[in-house]
Amino acid sequence: MSRSELVEAASAHPSGLLLQDVNVSFNGRAVLRELNVVVEPGCSVAVMGRSGTGKSTLLSVIGGLIRPDSGSVWVDGEPVHQLNRTDAARYRAQKVGIVFQSGELLPDISAEENVALAGVLGGKTYAQASAESARLLESVEIGKDLHGQLTRELSGGEQARVAVARALIGQPAVLLADEPTGSLDAELRQEVQTLLYGLPRSTGCCLVLVTHDPLVAQGADKTMTLSNGKLAEQPAQEPLAAPAPAASATPATITAQTRDPTRASQPVLSTPGRPFHPGTSSLSTNPPPPPVR
Ligand SMILES: Nc1ncnc2c1ncn2[C@@H]1O[C@H](COP(=O)(O)OP(=O)(O)OP(=O)(O)O)[C@@H](O)[C@H]1O
Ligand SMILES: [Mg+2]
Repeated sequence: MSRSELVEAASAHPSGLLLQDVNVSFNGRAVLRELNVVVEPGCSVAVMGRSGTGKSTLLSVIGGLIRPDSGSVWVDGEPVHQLNRTDAARYRAQKVGIVFQSGELLPDISAEENVALAGVLGGKTYAQASAESARLLESVEIGKDLHGQLTRELSGGEQARVAVARALIGQPAVLLADEPTGSLDAELRQEVQTLLYGLPRSTGCCLVLVTHDPLVAQGADKTMTLSNGKLAEQPAQEPLAAPAPAASATPATITAQTRDPTRASQPVLSTPGRPFHPGTSSLSTNPPPPPVR
């Protein structure tokens, strides 16, 4: 993508994700160096890299958990790099969904409570959050009979799907997944992977998934590799095995309240006025200029 195309993408997609010249170092050691990434709403990016290359750090920067030493991070029109602690917490509650490798669910409360709790922390009433939780759990194929079950009694794959439902309750603009399938067997990995990669299209969010596994990276619109602090785009590859279409692997349609009504197959509520620009994510190591607001 040329510089002028990047400029256009960045200014035309203020509701997406934009990293400009991002630098992060720990104890004087550079971990992320001059990173530039643009991801349009409704698109997914997989970032691969060996252990210790900075994948989780990158997600923390996007999630407002780590402030970059320099550079800017824009998510859904919000200058994440400038947020103070309070605003960063509000930003995470309103605009970020996070799925961790281990799920990070509270083991001694039910699946429904785990999801609802995230909604309450995001500002919903318990009644709203609870109703939304039940609907989201259904959409990730956690049947009603499991909604009240203690989370520690669920299988690994079920817990992974509950974690996805929990990440969606705030209708996030950006969904961050850190090795989300790392603890699953091959079959469940495929299932959760298909679920995750279907979400940008059904909810309009941006998905950034980090993994060291090329098989997991395959379903993304774009794949990048993080090495020596730099991101490089991977050339498009034929999948090793044909990925199952989202509808067949996860028959229930994800009906998370969409951030982008034109993207959702069955929106429950719409968010009018949010711009929609079809296309794939745009990634580059060339620095784009500041976003136009
Ligand atoms: N808060 C911190 N303080 C100091 N060093 C840190 C901190 N967070 C991360 N690092 C260092 O930054 C580097 C990148 O860490 P990071 O967790 O982002 O790697 P990763 O690519 O996610 O690795 P893995 O695949 O093992 O999860 C590592 O060398 C790590 O030790
Ligand atoms: Mg990590």
